[in-house]
Amino acid sequence: MRKEFPVLLIILLSLFVSKAQNACANEPDSVYLFAYATDKNYNHNGLHFAWSQNRVDWHTIGPEHSFLKNDYGRWGSEKRMLTPFLYRSVDGMWHCVWSLNERDGAFGHSSSPDLIRWGRQSYPPVMNDGNCLSPLITYDDSSGYYTIAWLSEPEGEKRVFSTTTRDFKAYGPTTGSAALPGLRDSAVIAGKSETGTLHRVAWKSVKELITTQQLASYKASLYGETTQSDPERFASLKTVDVLIRADGTRSKEISDLLLGIFYEDINYAADGGLYAELIQNRGFEYSLSDKLGSDKSWNSRKAWRVTNADSFSIDTVAPVHPNNKHYAVMQVDTKGVSLINEGFNGIPVTAGEKYNFSVFARTPESDKGSLIIRLTDKEGNIIGEAQTKKLGSNWKKQEVVLVASKTVTDARLLIEPQLRGRVDLDMISLFPKKTFRGRRNGLRADLAQTLADMKPRFMRFPGGCVAHGDGLENIYHWKNTIGPLEARKPQRNIWGYHQSFGLGYFEYFQFCEDIGAEPIPVIAAGVPCQNSGHHGCALGGQQGGIPMSEMDQYVQDVLDLIEYANGDEKTVWGRKRAEAGHPEPFNLKYIGVGNEDLITDIFEERFTMIYNAVKERYPDITVIGTVGPFFEGTDYVEGWKLADKLNIPIVDEHYYNPPGWYIHNQDFYDKYDRTKSKVYLGEFAAHLPDRASNIETALAEALHLCNVERNGDIVLMTSYAPLLAKEGYTQWNPDLIYFNHNEVKPTVGYYVQQLFGQNSGDEYIYSGIALSSERDDVAKRIAKSIVRDSNTGDVIVKLVNLLPVAVNATIDLSGIGLTERNATKTVLTGSPDDRSAKPVTEEVVMGEKCELPPYSFSVLRIKQSR
Ligand code: AHR
Repeated sequence: MRKEFPVLLIILLSLFVSKAQNACANEPDSVYLFAYATDKNYNHNGLHFAWSQNRVDWHTIGPEHSFLKNDYGRWGSEKRMLTPFLYRSVDGMWHCVWSLNERDGAFGHSSSPDLIRWGRQSYPPVMNDGNCLSPLITYDDSSGYYTIAWLSEPEGEKRVFSTTTRDFKAYGPTTGSAALPGLRDSAVIAGKSETGTLHRVAWKSVKELITTQQLASYKASLYGETTQSDPERFASLKTVDVLIRADGTRSKEISDLLLGIFYEDINYAADGGLYAELIQNRGFEYSLSDKLGSDKSWNSRKAWRVTNADSFSIDTVAPVHPNNKHYAVMQVDTKGVSLINEGFNGIPVTAGEKYNFSVFARTPESDKGSLIIRLTDKEGNIIGEAQTKKLGSNWKKQEVVLVASKTVTDARLLIEPQLRGRVDLDMISLFPKKTFRGRRNGLRADLAQTLADMKPRFMRFPGGCVAHGDGLENIYHWKNTIGPLEARKPQRNIWGYHQSFGLGYFEYFQFCEDIGAEPIPVIAAGVPCQNSGHHGCALGGQQGGIPMSEMDQYVQDVLDLIEYANGDEKTVWGRKRAEAGHPEPFNLKYIGVGNEDLITDIFEERFTMIYNAVKERYPDITVIGTVGPFFEGTDYVEGWKLADKLNIPIVDEHYYNPPGWYIHNQDFYDKYDRTKSKVYLGEFAAHLPDRASNIETALAEALHLCNVERNGDIVLMTSYAPLLAKEGYTQWNPDLIYFNHNEVKPTVGYYVQQLFGQNSGDEYIYSGIALSSERDDVAKRIAKSIVRDSNTGDVIVKLVNLLPVAVNATIDLSGIGLTERNATKTVLTGSPDDRSAKPVTEEVVMGEKCELPPYSFSVLRIKQSR
């Protein structure tokens, strides 16, 4: 493991161990160990252990404590562990195999030297047309082969099958077998009969298991601390005095990219969100499969209706573009028939504003009439109208501008053909003229401005899980998202809706340039999301891995992306960028490969191919690797090992932890080895059990960012996740910014991010802190960071007070030679459950005293003229 436990935990642990060692005299040399899983929590609790001296009285090692969890399939419905079978091989290694669910033809495998540290998981696909139940392991000494046997019911009848392996990596063919050996035992544990495997092990090993479980439980109680218990915890606490003294002799250079944004199309962040298109399902490409068939109304007609039901159908015979197969066909027999779009639950328009309407249309009819385009309010009153030119018999783009006469959030768009007979329509679009920076096909101005106001130094896109997708078929391919809108290839969004890709790679690069943020595209590492469904590898789901025969093309696509961003106009892909209106390169410097993937052999093989190819062809591009979804565990450990092995310059860490974790892990990055890979903290947030975003979570995040700033020599970038969420359309909470049709609602956490973004520095100034209280829990709830911004010379002091009492801070900056003392002081404060507090800024003349209100984040920016 790369990390050590915090000092306090080590002391507790060693006390426990030495106490246990003192008691050795009357302890057994060995005991029985029972390995099993229970059906609690829908089999999600993983591998458990119990020990016994006599095989009758069993002692659980933390009831329901998971020593190994199954990582197979989707979060929530999958990741269950059924019928684990534990086996110790001749070399002393423990192997565990288990059934993944009742359905799939694969089993899970992981191994461990000590039952505590478990290695990479694999899910070998052993049955083409059957499930894989109750797997077990036997070993043949003479051949050195392990046999894995299991029950399956390919034709309704349970039969035994088996395969062999030497190394649990390569497996022989599956064959039918005789009866399954009876190698499982049962034991009555906590009054319930459980099935599992029985082992004789050294008592020392069991003690280590007990210590591990107790430490985990102790840590969970620390991390579970919330402000709810502050009234008792700090009942006797009075105002705390602190002295912070800047050390004029010690400073270090830190990253000037520390705060950025993580953009993912989750919670309707793109279509219906940041992407300013007002028409929902403009290309008639919504499909039942977007929602895996769960919503029958989610089809090509979604959001559309017609005033006469018979006159509207969907066709695919001769589309505008093969990537965009579906189009609407209106059969107009009566005058006044209109096709109506409701937008994303209503179309917001503002009186006096202009809206660009466009449509691809054709009609085989001879009179070749035009289309009247109307905006109406809820009552049907016309609040904007325009007429297109006459249609022809071939697809042609028609464009008109509408001016809204009324402000409403729930307008409808109507298209009324001025002809009788058939009219084909596709890519029906309505854009506000006022987009962010006036870009055509641009972004919603208020939302984009809210992002720009954070002063993000980089933007990561397009995800998150969207980047690697739900199974191989759903991987995000950047080439599908560029070029003319009608030629882009929409697809299902892993979060259960539709991606039009109107907001695609060109628009992402353009937006980054517009807000002065480094673009950081993240591409799949040749494997889909670690939470993909589609039943495992055989069917291209989780750990399916792009077939090796297709990997060369995939690697080429990655290289082409760099050429698209940076190549000159003479290059194939640079020319496409120029054709899109941007002849100058976008100056891409970073590329993320992978997103918190399961680190497996399948991943490593593909990641390494991509990494080596980019390094060789574009040595100036910095590749960002990935180390799993948590701050610890197998993917974290294995990801870091791979980073060490390949010398990956930066790795992407993700964690969503409770506020208590941030309070009790303030030295998390202080322990990082400075000679190894740098870190991009690509996804993080403080999560309370009710997933609120309030002052408590915001201050925990501020506290963490103060600690990150101190480690800005190793942590180069951070981004809160997720960024955007449309009210009523969320798949994930909390998010940084909520919005609806016409309002943007930044959370209190947003203001923390914004204050860090607007007050970043590139030099960290060390400082000491002395408190009037000797309590450790008090000290842990105060954080400070002092940085200097070399662009302005300004010195910025950030102070977090997560206590229910005020902190009287004395800030001694005499050591760093300030020339002026005029400052702005910004304070964000409220009760812990406050969700609507806003920062308040005032101009002050810096004295030494500064009061930090209870539960507050204060930023002092001391302006220095140069
Ligand atoms: O931020 C939301 C999701 O959390 C991301 O898509 C994924 O990478 C992570 O699990």
